[in-house]
Amino acid sequence: MEFKLEATDKGSKARTGIITTDHGEIKTPIFMPVGTAGSVKAVHQRELKEDIKAQIILGNTYHLYLRPGLEIIEKAGGLHKFNGWDRPILTDSGGYQVYSLSETRKIKEEGVTFKSHIDGSKHIFTPEAVMDIQRTIGADIIMAFDECTPYPCEYDYAEQSMHMTHRWLKRCCEYFDKTEGKYGYSQTLFPIVQGSVYKDLRKQSAEVIASYQREGNAIGGLSVGEPAEMMYEMTELVCDILPYDKPRYLMGVGTPANILECITLGIDMFDCVMPTRNARNGMLFTSEGIINIKNKKWESDFSPVDPELSGYVDTFYSKAYLRHLIISKEILGAQIASIHNLTFYLWLVGEARAQIEAGTFAEWKSGMVKKVSQRL
Ligand code: GUN
Repeated sequence: MEFKLEATDKGSKARTGIITTDHGEIKTPIFMPVGTAGSVKAVHQRELKEDIKAQIILGNTYHLYLRPGLEIIEKAGGLHKFNGWDRPILTDSGGYQVYSLSETRKIKEEGVTFKSHIDGSKHIFTPEAVMDIQRTIGADIIMAFDECTPYPCEYDYAEQSMHMTHRWLKRCCEYFDKTEGKYGYSQTLFPIVQGSVYKDLRKQSAEVIASYQREGNAIGGLSVGEPAEMMYEMTELVCDILPYDKPRYLMGVGTPANILECITLGIDMFDCVMPTRNARNGMLFTSEGIINIKNKKWESDFSPVDPELSGYVDTFYSKAYLRHLIISKEILGAQIASIHNLTFYLWLVGEARAQIEAGTFAEWKSGMVKKVSQRL
């Protein structure tokens, strides 16, 4: 993997760049749609490419390992072959899902034992096992095994946990560097900064992560319930320590406004379930603000969801029809809303990129943050 920095914004730390993987290029800043179980919920691959213009999608180690399992994925020739997505894929390590989803879990130095949320079966994730699993899934970018601390989190717990994440990172790197990809293309490993909301811990963690000199770095443990200002403060502090010439990925973030603010702080990559999960409940993100499509106000509004977007669903369908579908719990409603929200997220980061290149980012951003945050 390579990262080439292109433009930098004069008034902020925002920048544009190009990540090159064996499955193609990713123009940053980028938003990565979440395809937990190898599919972006309610959206098929042709729509992801042609309508949404996704450049990279996410998969989850935890889900894919439990179902369909590694044997099937390996037999298919890796996740790209299995799901028909030939552009880059990033897999999260399970360092988040194992805490949020599994029924019971025990964290020890060796790793985490947990029970599947699907059938209650017992499993263990160690840093080495998680490297093996992600090698087999075949993502272009794989994530280190970490502990994502909750919020709030006592200082002592956050400190111990951060040190364990660092020890696990050492094991991840040593193991990853001894092994090879199974499908003929290269894979790269991103470490993850932790440290909860404590400045000294974040600083320490960012320094440790930076010292590994990997091809990209991630920030975890944020957007877990802390106030947005705290998240921005931690992100800024960490961005200033992580290598300047490597991509920075802020995990699990966030709202359109969060994304714009964090691009300003020097983040290059984002992922979040919000555009897809909220779409299924009728929450639509647009260039003019947030729409709850279930609201009676849209009942006979036959205008498109977002006049700024020129993609298929935003030129073909009306708010009134989408409202009807969502209220009637029609599957098509979830599909249209998900495609719309993802198209908007990709439009937003694409616009941010264009504004950084044009030298007009700061002014554009402050107006845009206000617009995208308001409820219509
Ligand atoms: N997704 C959102 N936050 C995190 C995190 O802290 N760690 C991992 N592995 N994934 C995440």
